[in-house]
Amino acid sequence: MPTALITGITGQDGSYLTEQLLDRGYTVHGLVRRTSNTVRTRLDPLFHNKGVYNKSLFLHYADLDDATTIRRVLVKTQPDELYHLAGQSHVGASFDIPESTCQFTAMGTLKLLEILRDLEKQPRFLHISSSEIFGRPDEFPQHEHTPMRPVTPYGVAKTFATQMVQLYRESFGLFACNAICYNHESPRRGESFVTRKITKAAAEISLGLNDEIVLGSLDGRRDWGSAPEYTTAMHLMLQQDAPDDYVLATGKTHSVEEFLDAAFRSVGLKYKNHLKQNPKYMRPAEVTRLVGDPTHAKQRLEWTPTTTALELAKQMTAADVESLK
Ligand SMILES: NC(=O)c1ccc[n+]([C@@H]2O[C@H](COP(=O)([O-])OP(=O)(O)OC[C@H]3O[C@@H](n4cnc5c(N)ncnc54)[C@H](OP(=O)(O)O)[C@@H]3O)[C@@H](O)[C@H]2O)c1
Repeated sequence: MPTALITGITGQDGSYLTEQLLDRGYTVHGLVRRTSNTVRTRLDPLFHNKGVYNKSLFLHYADLDDATTIRRVLVKTQPDELYHLAGQSHVGASFDIPESTCQFTAMGTLKLLEILRDLEKQPRFLHISSSEIFGRPDEFPQHEHTPMRPVTPYGVAKTFATQMVQLYRESFGLFACNAICYNHESPRRGESFVTRKITKAAAEISLGLNDEIVLGSLDGRRDWGSAPEYTTAMHLMLQQDAPDDYVLATGKTHSVEEFLDAAFRSVGLKYKNHLKQNPKYMRPAEVTRLVGDPTHAKQRLEWTPTTTALELAKQMTAADVESLK
C-alpha cells in the first residue's frame, strides 16, 4: 500500500488528510515540531488508537527549516506522496511576523524541493498554495493563470513557494503540484481565524458563558469551502497522470456579516445585540474580493465542493456548542 509523508499534520488540513489517507489504506508519516507542549488535539483520536499509532501512523520531529532531519526522514520512510501543508497560516499575523512567515512558508518550501531534487526515489509532491497569491486581481473569478499580485507578507511568501514549485516541475521534472486553495473551514479551524472566532463566540453566548464578540470589518467577502472536501481534492491531484496546478474554491463569496448572521441565528441569537467593532482587527491591506474558479479541478479531478459557507457556519457553531457543554 502507498506511503505518504505530511508536513503540517497537526493542522486543520493535515488532520483531515491523515484520516482520509488511513481510510484508503496508506501508511502515513507526519512531521511535527518539537515543542514543550505535546498536546496535538486534532490528532488525539488517532494518536490514542493503539491499532493506528505506530502501526500505520508515525510521527517524526522536524521543524520546516531543519533540512538535515527532513532529508533523513524522507530517506528512511521513502514516501510515494509528500503533502506539504506546514507553514505560518494566518494572513493577518504575517504583518506582525513577516520574517518567520517567509522563512517557513517561502524558504521552507524551497528547502523541501531541493531535498527532493537529490532523492533517488522522488515522491509526488503537493504544495498548498493560497488565493492570497492573487492579492488585488484584475479578473473575477481567478483561475490557474491569473497573474499573481500579492498584497500581504503571507501572500508574497506563498507566491514565491508557488512559483518555485512550478519552476522545479518544469526545470527538474518533479511531479510537483500547487493546490491554490481559497479559504476552507471546519470545526477544527484555529481559533484565531474569523470564522472560528465567530462560531466559538456564538456558542459561548448561547450557553451564557460570554456576552460579546469583537470584530473588525464585516464587509470583507470570502470564498469559503469545507476543509475535508479540499483535502479530498489534494489527494486526487497526486493521482493524475501529470502534475498540474489547481484552484480549489467554491466560486461563491459571502461577507463576514453573512457568516456571522448565520452562526448566531443557528443558536437563536441576533449578532447585532452582541457585536463590538474594533479597527485593531482590520488588516493594513485588506484583500476584499477573492473568488476562485474551480472549473479545472471539476473537469480534471471530477471534484465538486458541496458544503456552503452558511452551512459551515451552522456546523461549526454546533460543534463548538457540543465541545463547550
Ligand atoms: N485553511 C485555509 O483556509 C487555507 C487557505 C489557503 C492556504 N492554506 C494553507 O494550507 C496549509 C494548511 O492550512 P491549515 O488551515 O491546516 O493550517 P493550520 O491549521 O494553521 O496548520 C498549520 C500546520 O503547519 C505547522 N507548522 C507551522 N509552522 C511550522 C514550522 N515552522 N515547522 C513545522 N511545522 C509548522 C503547524 O504545526 P503546529 O501544530 O506545531 O503549529 C500545523 O501543523 C497552510 O500552509 C496554509 O497556509 C490554508
